[in-house]
Amino acid sequence: MKKIVILVGARPNFMKAAPVYNELKKIKRFKTFIVHSGQHYDKAMSKVFFRDLALPKPKIYLGVGSGTHAEQTAKVMMEFEKVCFKEKPDLVIVVGDVNTTLAGALTAAKLCIPVAHVEAGLRSFDRTMPEEINRLLTDQISDFLFTTCEDANRNLLREGIAPEKIFFVGNTMIDSLLKHCTVAKKIKILEMLGLDVGRYGVVTLHRPSNVDDINVLQKIIDAISEISKIVPIVFPVHPRTDRQLDNIHFLLYEPEFKKGIKFTEPLGYLEFLSLMSGASIVLTDSGGIQEETTILGIPCLTLRENTERPITITQGTNKLVGNDPKKIIKEASKILLEPKKTERPKKPKYWDGFAGKRIAKILRERL
Ligand code: UD1
Repeated sequence: MKKIVILVGARPNFMKAAPVYNELKKIKRFKTFIVHSGQHYDKAMSKVFFRDLALPKPKIYLGVGSGTHAEQTAKVMMEFEKVCFKEKPDLVIVVGDVNTTLAGALTAAKLCIPVAHVEAGLRSFDRTMPEEINRLLTDQISDFLFTTCEDANRNLLREGIAPEKIFFVGNTMIDSLLKHCTVAKKIKILEMLGLDVGRYGVVTLHRPSNVDDINVLQKIIDAISEISKIVPIVFPVHPRTDRQLDNIHFLLYEPEFKKGIKFTEPLGYLEFLSLMSGASIVLTDSGGIQEETTILGIPCLTLRENTERPITITQGTNKLVGNDPKKIIKEASKILLEPKKTERPKKPKYWDGFAGKRIAKILRERL
């Protein structure tokens, strides 16, 4: 019997981990369970996702919570080390690029426990992003590097990772999307928000570079406000952004602004999937949403200067627009006011719903 721990902690981890968990559970020889660091702890940022993805409750909850990067990373390491001592796993699986990912990989590697990284090799080449540091370091100390695209393989090889550790398996986030898409579309979120299919935009923002500086955020909100004169906008607000929106809340009292933008709490997985599938445009600074819109065929403007997911531009619906309001308005207007192209981009290889299965097969053969 081999014991496998899947460590998760933040919202974007859950939908990437679920397909891996579900496939590993089918292997009798493996005892697989979930540990949750508690990096995200609000019901809307965590519990709802376990419900929507039909994941069992984590076996162990570390209760780490928020803090500076050093505090959060260190707390996850201290608490997770105790779990590793007690449970003695044969493999620790970490997912994505959040602080929990690096903390889990580092803890396990120092205890000589093999580490598998799901979504390895993505690079924005921007080391001001905390996620880039997490990605670089996690990959260096992982034993199984499961990649979503071939450019990730190239990045890893360039960084000196041994080819036999790299496995191009596809995108587990897309496994979750394809599995839940039909059910999500039945959710009555559009009715609840008073929207018509194909005639609204969706916005999400949470990157420190966009929301921590009030002047930057103000300009982005002004741009979104302009776009909301063309189509209504739904804006589910991340807690980090929510804190800041209070500082520009006067805008909410301008009648025109209030009419065009609907602020909501963070949405559940199925609700958000449903909302995204019917949108005419998505504006975001998230990583995962760039991938999800590519598969859904929804035009996506990414409010960043770079992306660790270039395949969503070359083979998808994504375009980088940074945070210059003029550029955001210009590109959004083009999408909304000019006739749509009918041809659908070719889907990236292995974004087919079977990435979790491929990971399980590799681990079954090698563990
Ligand atoms: C984290 C990840 C980021 C990911 C994002 C998705 C890191 C370095 N960043 O950023 O890569 O894209 O999650 O959401 O790991 N807060 C709450 N409730 C919660 C969680 C957070 O109110 O459940 C608030 C706290 O005030 C906290 C702030 O949000 O200080 C930021 O949370 P944190 O986990 O530090 O980073 P995120 O911005 O969520």
